[in-house]
Amino acid sequence: MSTTAFRFPLIISVYLISSSAYSAVNFEKDLLPVITKKCMDCHKAPYEEKGQKKTPKAGLRLDASWAILKGSEDGPVLTPGSPDKSGIYESVTLPKDDDGHMPSKGEDMTKEEIALLKTWIEEGANFGGWIGSVEGMPAGAMTESVKPYKPRPHDLFYAALEKDLKPLSDEVLANAKAAGAQVSPVKVDSPLVRVDFLTGVSKCDDAKVAAILPLKENIVQLDLGRTIITDAALKTVAQLPRLVALDLRQTKITDAGLESLSGLKKLESLNLYGTEITDAGLKHLAKLKSLKNVYLWQSKATKPGVNQLNAAIPGLKASIE
Ligand code: HEC
Repeated sequence: MSTTAFRFPLIISVYLISSSAYSAVNFEKDLLPVITKKCMDCHKAPYEEKGQKKTPKAGLRLDASWAILKGSEDGPVLTPGSPDKSGIYESVTLPKDDDGHMPSKGEDMTKEEIALLKTWIEEGANFGGWIGSVEGMPAGAMTESVKPYKPRPHDLFYAALEKDLKPLSDEVLANAKAAGAQVSPVKVDSPLVRVDFLTGVSKCDDAKVAAILPLKENIVQLDLGRTIITDAALKTVAQLPRLVALDLRQTKITDAGLESLSGLKKLESLNLYGTEITDAGLKHLAKLKSLKNVYLWQSKATKPGVNQLNAAIPGLKASIE
């Protein structure tokens, strides 16, 4: 059978999966019980037992989504999109006699459980809103790392954005998918879409981002977090007239790059967690009067710089912690 014959149904199914539940694996239902049973004894918040203080092994806590994202004392253990670069997956697939095999004691994860973990990571490691223990959580970690951006509840806002907007054609969607982009409608039957590269963040470069330009009128949410983009990609982003939420966490973008964004009139949410952005970069944002949230946790911005930005935009809550 020819590939063209398959193309149409393929697009439809991708569209349906991503629009309904984002992913086939539900973290809380499918994985959390396994991790709780087989990992948590050694990887949870510090506690006391018989007068002795117990700390998580390797400094790694698996009892909260923000903690899993934070990683161990040696660094990250999870790379959304790449199981092979994720310690939590690697460790459970190592041979049993390997020192790094997990769990180091107790019942192993089954083949099925390991397969689920792999799929979950491949699909972008979406925690689906699960937070877990808030003990020891750095302020701002929750908003920053876990909660997916929730579009504003009032439909009027989206209705205004949607007005006279055409849905994307199958051809445009297929091309975006070929470039590694996942496209899903923000709600059923809306021509407005959310775009991410979560199935291959480590392959998403400036050229891949440029490939979403044919969708530019329809994009309201764009997640480029943890990708390998540079400031050049922000020149593409600058051309998305309806962009409301932009995630640039843990990318190599610089202060100078933020200047490109100053024409985004609808932008409300900007995630700059774990970037090199300093107060100089924040100055470029002062023109974005629609901004409501800017996440700056683990960036190079300072309190005074953040205060200045908050003062420049009424209604903005930029936070550094
Ligand atoms: C009986 C205790 C115990 C259990 C249960 C356990 N671990 Fe560990 N884990 C350890 C110890 C000890 C280390 C440190 C090993 C070392 O430094 O060589 C570790 C290290 C790790 C690391 C490496 C962290 C790093 O970057 O150095 C990962 C990832 C990990 N565990 C994941 C898991 C997962 C996933 C499970 C459940 C399937 C699990 N562990 C269950 C004791 C445990």
